[in-house]
Amino acid sequence: MSFLEKFSLSVGIDLGTANTLMAVPGKGIIFDEPTVIARQKKKPGQPGKIFAFGKKAKKMSGREPQQIEVIEPLVDGAIADFDAAVYFLKYLTSLAAELPSRWPRLLKPRAVVGVPTGITGVEKRAVRSAALSAGFARVFLVEEPMLTAIGVGLNIESAAGNLLVDIGGGTTEIAVVSLGGVVLNRYLKRAGREMDESIVNFLRMKYGVLIGLPTAEEIKIKIGSVLPVSKKDSGLEAILVKGRDLETGLPKAIKITKEEIREALSPIAQEIVAQVKEILEETPPELSADISKRGIVLSGACSLLEGMEQLISQATKIPVWTAKNPNTSVVLGCVKLLENEKLLKKIRITGGIG
Ligand SMILES: Nc1ncnc2c1ncn2[C@@H]1O[C@H](COP(=O)(O)OP(=O)(O)OP(=O)(O)O)[C@@H](O)[C@H]1O
Ligand SMILES: [Mg+2]
Repeated sequence: MSFLEKFSLSVGIDLGTANTLMAVPGKGIIFDEPTVIARQKKKPGQPGKIFAFGKKAKKMSGREPQQIEVIEPLVDGAIADFDAAVYFLKYLTSLAAELPSRWPRLLKPRAVVGVPTGITGVEKRAVRSAALSAGFARVFLVEEPMLTAIGVGLNIESAAGNLLVDIGGGTTEIAVVSLGGVVLNRYLKRAGREMDESIVNFLRMKYGVLIGLPTAEEIKIKIGSVLPVSKKDSGLEAILVKGRDLETGLPKAIKITKEEIREALSPIAQEIVAQVKEILEETPPELSADISKRGIVLSGACSLLEGMEQLISQATKIPVWTAKNPNTSVVLGCVKLLENEKLLKKIRITGGIG
């Protein structure tokens, strides 16, 4: 650490489509909330006033009065509303500034920020500009598969290959990493959010009942699965869902089974499996031998869906294991990098964007 860096704070940020996390070396995760802001609707030439960030803003979604809009600044892993992203990141800098410190803070904070490998160069640069506009002094962008690998404790500097599958809110990223860099990757704009949409469509088609996306997400988390498991350990088998009857326009409650939800989620899960198989076919033989030995690593909160591990291992005949805390591996990777200046320098060349 340079003399001046003692007087500035370093943070790690996972700016996800669904959730954003921020962590600080020595302090751990200090922010873990939905990537959502609620603001006054913009009038020409006037910036909208911000009402809420994170959890509070997400709760307003679908219930907001006419003058307020609830915005998700990211779509499919990339910034879709630049102003909203800057506001959101500014909120993070304000949280970082409130942290107690032994030294006076003479410099603005610096940040390691994860970006998907699969977004375009322009989209990656937009993440950097947004973070700089929000008040970070220096921004290191690092590819998320590298951060996940570091976060879950893989030795990424070795020549061995690792296959990582991150199933998030907006995207699924499948990557083979070796020697501190991404060798191959696949980026799918299909993940948790599309599963929620699929549940909404399923209930509309089968029962003529309309539910909102937050309800669909709740159903997915409560009884979602991608593979039948034995009855004994399958937990909740059915759930009562309240929605609106499209014919009468009145509220209606229906009972939905786990199997029905599996039917709705299956096409997306199958697509993820197909892409994992494809990337395995393209992987150089030396690396695929390593992968079969070391197993496939799952991360991203959507990998918590029941049966995901088994589904992928059955299809690939390779052992699959889920990261201990699948939603925090990227941000923990950021912190580990900040604590290891030598590795950070190296990663900036092989797995970073400078
Ligand atoms: N226990 C759970 N079981 C299944 N799905 C879950 C669970 N908890 C959260 N999810 C889903 O995981 C998704 C969010 O995952 P995550 O936080 O990893 O995404 P993200 O990093 O914000 O998005 P992305 O990586 O696509 O930019 C949401 O769709 C959410 O509904
Ligand atoms: Mg993510």
